[in-house]
Amino acid sequence: MNYVYSFLYVIVRLRNSVAHFCYYGDRVNRKKTILDIQKMKAAGEAITVLTSYDYPFTRIMDDCGIDVILVGDSVGVVFGGFDTTLPVTVEEMVYHTRAVARARPKALVVADMPFLSYQTDLRDARINAGRLVKEGGAEAVKLEGGLHVAETIRAIADMDIPVMAHIGLTPQSIHRMGGYKVQGKKEEQALRLVDDARAVEEAGAFAVVLEGIPLKLARQITGELSIPTIGIGAGPYCDGQVLVIHDILGLCEKYSPKFVKRYADAKALVAGAVSSYIDDVRKGAFPEEGHSFS
Ligand code: KIV
Repeated sequence: MNYVYSFLYVIVRLRNSVAHFCYYGDRVNRKKTILDIQKMKAAGEAITVLTSYDYPFTRIMDDCGIDVILVGDSVGVVFGGFDTTLPVTVEEMVYHTRAVARARPKALVVADMPFLSYQTDLRDARINAGRLVKEGGAEAVKLEGGLHVAETIRAIADMDIPVMAHIGLTPQSIHRMGGYKVQGKKEEQALRLVDDARAVEEAGAFAVVLEGIPLKLARQITGELSIPTIGIGAGPYCDGQVLVIHDILGLCEKYSPKFVKRYADAKALVAGAVSSYIDDVRKGAFPEEGHSFS
């Protein structure tokens, strides 16, 4: 009889292990949705977000297991060479979002709504959010602002397009802020940001980016909201973190904000490869016979 029990026990354990493996294997391998991102907050798992604007970087970071890929309007600065994000157009965002979506990442793809694509009226906002999804292949959109864009967030969310909000240092408001300055340092400003955070959650945003705010304020907002907070220059007490890919690779010379951690010197790597190529061609070391057709 004991043998029968032992046998059954082994079978049950085996079945449970296979089920466990399939469940977690599936969670790791399947497409991530806003529900997965929201569950991560509930489970206390850190949400990882990076920007990407093209196919090859998307493939690399997706293979590494990033949770969310943000096609940020920072593309205008780090890729396009502009001083601000203001000149970026909807067409440019659609183009870059398509390149990212074409890589079929498992990560959730969020596309930024550029300046003037949602501030004019609700109809413009709906159409432009729709274009990023329909033509670009985005699975969610992000827009900047708090209380004053709550109605816009609701209008887009009502079309079943998930919206990521973005409050604090909002780069599209650079001229009002008088530069890229930390927001919410003064009591009154901090209270307004808490109101902004509540307003975007109430309007239906599925997550909110907290940019350039003191870490205590970010901790307070993260504790109050039920939607995930994604920090950038907002300290460690957010539900997730986002950085610009060019910044972590050391590819952006223009700005080097305090909150960026550089994980590689890709500039030196690229410069080394380019210099070697130039040298090789000049001295006749490239191409060799192996690179040629007979
Ligand atoms: O445009 C962008 O890349 C962003 C992130 C930095 C949050 O908005």
